[in-house]
Amino acid sequence: MKIMLTGSNGQLGRDIHEVLEKNGYEVIALTHEDCDLADLFTMKELIMKHMPQIFINTAAFHHVEACESDSKKAFKINSEAPAFIARMCNYLSIKLIHFSSDYVFNGKANVPYTENDSAEPLNIYGLSKLKGENLIKASCCKHLIIRVSGLYGTHPCRAKNGLNFVQLMLKLAKEKGEVKVVTDEIVSPTSTISIAKMLIEFLNKDLQGTIHVSSEGSCSWNEFAKEIFEYTDTPVSLLEAVSADFPSKVSRPSYSVLDNKYIYSKGYPRMPHWKDSLHLYLDELNSTSKENKVLETEAGLSM
Ligand SMILES: NC(=O)c1ccc[n+]([C@@H]2O[C@H](COP(=O)([O-])OP(=O)(O)OC[C@H]3O[C@@H](n4cnc5c(N)ncnc54)[C@H](OP(=O)(O)O)[C@@H]3O)[C@@H](O)[C@H]2O)c1
Repeated sequence: MKIMLTGSNGQLGRDIHEVLEKNGYEVIALTHEDCDLADLFTMKELIMKHMPQIFINTAAFHHVEACESDSKKAFKINSEAPAFIARMCNYLSIKLIHFSSDYVFNGKANVPYTENDSAEPLNIYGLSKLKGENLIKASCCKHLIIRVSGLYGTHPCRAKNGLNFVQLMLKLAKEKGEVKVVTDEIVSPTSTISIAKMLIEFLNKDLQGTIHVSSEGSCSWNEFAKEIFEYTDTPVSLLEAVSADFPSKVSRPSYSVLDNKYIYSKGYPRMPHWKDSLHLYLDELNSTSKENKVLETEAGLSM
């Protein structure tokens, strides 16, 4: 089966690309350089040229502050472009799988959000992602909208200067020995590889609709940082803060935990707990850095 994938060099896109290929899918991998999502003419040409059975859109303009200061671009990339792709998909009978965000919610809840909860974004990024979802639904194309949250992965998050939260914490601990992290924002940190693996299950059963997919369990960013430091035995002083300590022009949901109950009710396997995914990720990070050290030593010896 042929799949066209946007954002293929992104944090999520790279894991999806690798997992799809391992599972025998033919992937037409598009980066921003290959085609800007807003370049509708080129996008149309590419879709017509390759005629995939499935189009997966992981590309987005998702730097939250940048979206706030350039709302025109946010709506163009996160709403209008997916809507155009959806209309193309409808016309050509292609299934569209589109990634959306926990930021469609206002974060005032204190229990995990289900797909039936009403969305009420607090910022331009969330508004533009929600509009993208609604325009996809209105196109009547066969679609699966997957809302995810708090992503981190082996590959760099391109919108966040290449460092995910885990790497940032380890870097700050090493450089400063003291890190201040908020206790009043609750999330479900989710590894991109766990989503990529679940996507294969959705493809196998041709799931459609709007769904939530995130790690099991939830924590504050401070608890997440604590687990990172404890698991890696990192010497650091972890201080508690609240979001008001870091004033920002952009409102963010203080509670953005997604409920996976719907996919479980359809018989899909359970997502891993956030701690289990984090441990796997940190083990991998550790073995990669050990391999790099061996390579550096070998290179030094052969010089
Ligand atoms: N990261 C999170 O915590 C998080 C949370 C909830 C939802 N999401 C959603 O998950 C999806 C994947 O995010 P990610 O973490 O993988 O982010 P990422 O690493 O920043 O990847 C995004 C990709 O989109 C590409 N892109 C951006 N603007 C584009 C445009 N105009 N045309 C074509 N490609 C463009 C980027 O390429 P360039 O870098 O070259 O521009 C990059 O390859 C997004 O839809 C995002 O909204 C992410």
